[in-house]
Amino acid sequence: HKKMMCKFFVFFMSVCIFSFSSIGQNYKEPHRPQYHFSPKEKWMNDPNGMVYYKGEYHLFYQYYPDSTVWGPMHWGHAVSKDLLHWQHLPIALYPDSLGYIFSGSVVVDTKNTSGFKKGTEAPLIAIFTYHNMEGEKAGTNNFQTQGIAYSTDKGRHFTKYANNPVIKNTGAKDFRDPKVFWHEPTKHWVMSLAAGNRIQFYHSKDLKNWSMTGEFGMKEGNHGGVWECPDLFPLTVNGSKEIKWVLMVSIGNGAPNGGSGTQYFVGDFDGSNFKNSHAAATERWIDYGTDNYAGVTWSNTPNDERIFLGWMSNWQYAREVPTQKWRSAMTLPRQLSLYNMAGNYFVKSLPIAGIQKIRIDNKPISLSTLPLSIGPLTEIILEADLQKTTMSSFAIELSNSKSEKVLVGYDDSSHTYFIDRTNTGNASFSTVFAAKETAPRLSESKIIRLHIFSDKSSIEVFADDGLTCLTGIYFPAEDFTKIRLVKENSKTIFTKNECYRLKSVW
Ligand code: FRU
Repeated sequence: HKKMMCKFFVFFMSVCIFSFSSIGQNYKEPHRPQYHFSPKEKWMNDPNGMVYYKGEYHLFYQYYPDSTVWGPMHWGHAVSKDLLHWQHLPIALYPDSLGYIFSGSVVVDTKNTSGFKKGTEAPLIAIFTYHNMEGEKAGTNNFQTQGIAYSTDKGRHFTKYANNPVIKNTGAKDFRDPKVFWHEPTKHWVMSLAAGNRIQFYHSKDLKNWSMTGEFGMKEGNHGGVWECPDLFPLTVNGSKEIKWVLMVSIGNGAPNGGSGTQYFVGDFDGSNFKNSHAAATERWIDYGTDNYAGVTWSNTPNDERIFLGWMSNWQYAREVPTQKWRSAMTLPRQLSLYNMAGNYFVKSLPIAGIQKIRIDNKPISLSTLPLSIGPLTEIILEADLQKTTMSSFAIELSNSKSEKVLVGYDDSSHTYFIDRTNTGNASFSTVFAAKETAPRLSESKIIRLHIFSDKSSIEVFADDGLTCLTGIYFPAEDFTKIRLVKENSKTIFTKNECYRLKSVW
């Protein structure tokens, strides 16, 4: 009996130690983002299937559960009530005989057009790309097809449709990333699909039978790389009743600061075709930084809010970044809005309003007496009046005791914002990583506004109320805790300089 007690005690203690240590290590690894989404472990890329249903924001994502480098793709899954605090859920979609599960979307089929409804919940339908490895290896060019799966229990389990694929491939090597929405005027589901150097539009009454209605983009925008991950949605132009359509397109290569990035077009959509309102050569970028890719928006959100999330990495080095347990994180969730500036339409992105919840204290810390030691989780708001200064450039610098640092700033002579990560720490994994990335200032206002969010290994810059954005990641040997202002001309006048310390959501 004593022996049994003893064994039980040892067992009990090891359970305690095991659970204590797994809690203790949760999201505490070096570089682990503290208020951005990252998977508990292993490889993640694009956000997928973002949909809101009954109080939950679902986030699915490209996931490989067996390694920290890209491999056979699954859909990982998490849910959140506020887009900041996440609950991890089991893998939603596994590869099958038709292929890996590549990027795609989820819609709420409120009218049960698919006929998949069982019980009381509206069916959630996932529309995704099948990537068939055997086909790719055999050198065919029809190995990407579109499939669907449905859930009748609020996204907890998905069943693949028996007659997949729903869209076959007639010979386009790159044929993927379906994003679907309900178009009320034509009473159809509309799908945008990336097909090499263009976006194709399809429509359907039941999410199972699809036909192509149009194509866009062969000669428009940037073509430095293959087109991927489209998203098409209407936005009301700020301060008016005018509605325009935004078509976002990610490109695998050729973004403003190298590698992958996301461009967008503004125009009109009649249910079948998209028409660009700007000249074909016009380029617009959701984010000029190196690390915001494959982003799309949530469907079915309350009040039709357009909330965007991107993958905070770049295919140039995503597989090599120096994290051990997991690889990569998502950007902050961003609310999109549309502006007409002298006949030119621009999308602005800003962190969702709820982001204020992660401030430790709502009372700002003044940055007038720098340097300060308050990092690495910070929100910084800077405002400078160009009329009251002869300033040529300024920057905010975050650094550590090893003289590693990241700088964010503005250069008036070139009218550019920048993130300088030439000396942010470990960059040995890539020849292009340690660089200064720049973005044009699009606003003509005399007031410069910078809203900056730094996490352990990333910085997001929203300039001019989100008209120009920059996102960059980095891997310092220790946290950036010091904040300093670097000014080329001391007459810079900051009409606002505020800092907030932020807390972890994990
Ligand atoms: C974009 C992308 C998508 C594809 C997925 C594969 O990053 O290349 O086009 O569906 O990643 O993981």
